Amino acid sequence: MNQITRIRLGVNIDHVATLRNARGTFYPDPLKMVKFLEKLDVDGVTIHLREDRRHIIDSDVKRIKKETFLPVNLEMAATEEMQQIATEVIPNAVCLVPEKREERTTEGGLDVITEENKLQSFLVPLIQKKIRISLFVSPDLKQIEAASRVGANIIELNTGTFCDLLIENNKEYVEEFEKLKEAAVYGKTLGLEIHGGHGLTFDSVKYIASIPEIRELNIGHFLISQAVFDGIEKTINTMRLEIDKSQK
Ligand code: PXP
Repeated sequence: MNQITRIRLGVNIDHVATLRNARGTFYPDPLKMVKFLEKLDVDGVTIHLREDRRHIIDSDVKRIKKETFLPVNLEMAATEEMQQIATEVIPNAVCLVPEKREERTTEGGLDVITEENKLQSFLVPLIQKKIRISLFVSPDLKQIEAASRVGANIIELNTGTFCDLLIENNKEYVEEFEKLKEAAVYGKTLGLEIHGGHGLTFDSVKYIASIPEIRELNIGHFLISQAVFDGIEKTINTMRLEIDKSQK
């Protein structure tokens, strides 16, 4: 497949840090995983610096950005603290996500409409540093319109609901898939680059990678989990193959 048009695979390595933090020791080191990924067929690394630092910590962000040639996508909440870190580290992209302390993982998408004014000024210093701006949103056309208005370059469509429905064999996944397709088309007409992520597995990625507008997928928990059985190289190669086969 043509290298230029191929969907990019961003690997979220948060859960390498989760494993490390479970013992409060120094291994497994997320940077070591980045060094493995550099040799594989991946296009970027994604890390989520959460307010409570439950997995990735500040020094991981700095070391990874300094030591890798892979583009770094920093997921974060729209807080002053994170804005300061992002403007110091200057990742290739920032993906803004909603964050609730009590949640296990990111839930839902950003409420860009309600936060529109705040986001607009929040993004200014990031845009000045030429960081690409991605907003994590549900497949909701009004939110996508607002994402375009606040100056995002990218929307990352939250595939989490779709993946949950598919895994539960709940037929409502069909409706959610239609929403994702419609959202991708709409976002592209507004000039946004379309990414997808959350909950993706070898099965669900087949659907999402078949959406023609999708340019990048960010996948973490499943890849790190599957690597426990198959190793990271085989896991990435299988995911890459599934994406390439499904891409239209
Ligand atoms: N994209 C975003 C915005 C996320 O918050 C996450 C989870 O950190 C992912 C992608 C990756 O999701 P998963 O770990 O379920 O593959």
